[in-house]
Amino acid sequence: MSHSRPAAVIILAAGEGKRMKSRTPKVLHALCGRTMIGHAMAAARDLDPERLVVVTGHGRDQVGAEVARLAPDADRVLQEQQLGTGHAVRMVTESLGAIPGIVVVTYGDMPLLRSQTLQELASVHRAGGNGVTVLSARVPDPAGYGRIVRDEAGTLARIVEHADATPAEQAIDETNSGCYAFDGALLADAIKRVATDNAQGQEYLTDVIAILRADGHRIGSVIAADAAEIEGVNDRVQLAAARRVLNDRLLRQHMLNGVTVVDPASTWVDVTVTIGQDAEIRQNTQLEGVTVIGEGARVGPNCLLADTTVGAGAELVNIVSRQASVGARATLGPNVYLRPQAVIGEGAHVGCYVEVKKSTIGAGAKVPHLTYVGDATIGAGANIGAGTIFANYDGQSKWPTTIGEHAFVGSNTVLVAPVTVSDGAYTAAGSAITDDVTAGDLGVARGRQHNSDGWVLRNREGTRSAAAAGRARPAQDASSADEGE
Ligand code: UD1
Ligand code: MG
Repeated sequence: MSHSRPAAVIILAAGEGKRMKSRTPKVLHALCGRTMIGHAMAAARDLDPERLVVVTGHGRDQVGAEVARLAPDADRVLQEQQLGTGHAVRMVTESLGAIPGIVVVTYGDMPLLRSQTLQELASVHRAGGNGVTVLSARVPDPAGYGRIVRDEAGTLARIVEHADATPAEQAIDETNSGCYAFDGALLADAIKRVATDNAQGQEYLTDVIAILRADGHRIGSVIAADAAEIEGVNDRVQLAAARRVLNDRLLRQHMLNGVTVVDPASTWVDVTVTIGQDAEIRQNTQLEGVTVIGEGARVGPNCLLADTTVGAGAELVNIVSRQASVGARATLGPNVYLRPQAVIGEGAHVGCYVEVKKSTIGAGAKVPHLTYVGDATIGAGANIGAGTIFANYDGQSKWPTTIGEHAFVGSNTVLVAPVTVSDGAYTAAGSAITDDVTAGDLGVARGRQHNSDGWVLRNREGTRSAAAAGRARPAQDASSADEGE
């Protein structure tokens, strides 16, 4: 690998991308958790080049910021006007000087290109002692691409653009990918000699091939094994198609690593996702960002997990989660919303219609139904009754609530923070708890019930309620009279 380590990889990304019809520059559109320029830079990085160069133009500020974010040490070269791919490379050699060694050129809008393919290109280039080596492909519909013109010996002679091609040349199905490995010194010299006498009046990088051949240098080529790799993305239809291909590639790798993907067609993963062995990802599930799924965990159906860590053997059904973590063997769902800094302990259970924000739920604790947990610490083994609300906000500030180990919070409790229910303490159902409950105490905070004797019979005469009460009343009165004996 170090043998054919490039001196530079140049990524062309100055084009406008009109067909995206977007306010966002084309190369900043994302697929599988990474922008298109990010994919190109990742593939380039895998070659371990001495320099990474990105040519920017349209949307230079936004694209430049993304490049700087991903690779602060990358060289950014501005191409003010997009006068062609040759012009773009000339801006690089004029700004950085000739770069001796292998110079790989690729595009910022080819997210399916694998680094292995670029590596092969560089290796073939080095081994052949070539002036330039072109990555080509045989595509079903070559319209629009530059065509590879070979001589009788089968050697690459030149590349002709579609707009400049004769009908015979247009019939050629071997196309130019736009990726090349150059001898950097030869490139810097030849790029100055590229003319603009073509259908588009542009400086074509492709013309460098014929120039180097005329100078007597060797021209090599690598035909991409998978033509899909060199397909550029020009509109959102192609973006969706590329996303599908990339996602399939990622899922395939996870499956080969021992992950069960029940329905690949409805499962979406980012490049930054890690999934442990024997995990099972069920349908309609999207795993985003730095999400880590532990061994044997079962996720889905219907989960959207972003930057979330799921422990081994946990089970999640119908979950939305961002920047949260779930302990081993915990069970969540259906219908749980985990917000940033939700930490669910090992073996804990968080059930139906529960929202958790910036809270830690201890090992084995249960929050089974209809609850909001915010800014809380819940001890191990605690039980939070149905409909409990952690009232963490007083209209101005957020306050914490602490629930002790094996505490029992009765159904429909409102915990008005800041408040503590200590280890082993209880709260009575329907309480509004404003004062701390000491370990082992029962906190009751609600009005005592009073029954107004015969109220319905007196005030709702003639209704079905009164009639039902009338029928029940003699028997009930008799039985309470019995009790009284
Ligand atoms: C180019 C090739 C063509 C090849 C095709 C593969 C040339 C002359 N033609 O054609 O042989 O089959 O790619 O997709 O090279 N760019 C700049 N600055 C410019 C012009 C382009 O940075 O002034 C960038 C674009 O952002 C894009 C890439 O270069 O990422 C290709 O440009 P594009 O205009 O799409 O070239 P094609 O006409 O498709
Ligand atoms: Mg193009």
